[in-house]
Amino acid sequence: MRRFIIAGNWKMYKTITEAIELANGLKRELMDCTSLDIVLCPNYIALEEVQEVVYGTSIKVGAQNVFWQKEGAFTGEVSAAMIKDAGCDYVIIGHSERRQYFAETNETVNKKIAHVLEHGLIPIVCVGENLKERESDKTFQVVEDHVKGALKGFTKEQLKDLIIAYEPVWAIGTGKTATPEQAQEVHKFIREIMTKLFDEEFSGNIRIQYGGSVKPENVKDLMSRADIDGALVGGASLKVDSFVEIIKTTEGITK
Ligand code: 13P
Repeated sequence: MRRFIIAGNWKMYKTITEAIELANGLKRELMDCTSLDIVLCPNYIALEEVQEVVYGTSIKVGAQNVFWQKEGAFTGEVSAAMIKDAGCDYVIIGHSERRQYFAETNETVNKKIAHVLEHGLIPIVCVGENLKERESDKTFQVVEDHVKGALKGFTKEQLKDLIIAYEPVWAIGTGKTATPEQAQEVHKFIREIMTKLFDEEFSGNIRIQYGGSVKPENVKDLMSRADIDGALVGGASLKVDSFVEIIKTTEGITK
């Protein structure tokens, strides 16, 4: 049985003050939600403060990015040790916005995964096709490329806690969600790739989140699908009410 994991990717929203306020609001509402994993991913400079708010609860904190070097003259970058020291357990790697605006590739994603694993952080690795790729029937090819490129060279023991997030780029921030059927089809495919790369036991244990316009109204249908194990939520994670509703709805689903 895979446990649901719902993560809020706050992207470049919320000042430190606003992040503390949001985290406090979520803490009040989510104290008793212990049957699933909840992760908040604020910007770098709010990580420690948000961690302080949720400390002692089952809510965890994650960063939205990381650099792959231990330390050095890399102006503007942040290492896994720094993220860990701020109290994080998770790191989002290879989000499509980073691939699109900051030239991330499968190779940099692979290096970042190696680096965070060395520091005991759990990578949430994002994969997914853009609209042009979907319309030209390249979805499976792109997703396979992302998954294989990201996981190249690791053993299944190293990746035992890995989270994959399938985020079709055309569904991010557009209000256009993949249908539960479309999402399930790709999630199943990702699991099959992992079976081929490792084995069935491994792929059966790995959690695959869906991301892209997840809202209180569509979360139940999506999370009810066999291979969808959680959500990576953008816009709807920025408000207490909508994020809480997404989590409470998911809590009520049994598969
Ligand atoms: P939205 O939920 O705003 O579409 O964003 C999804 C996302 O990119 C999460 O990482």
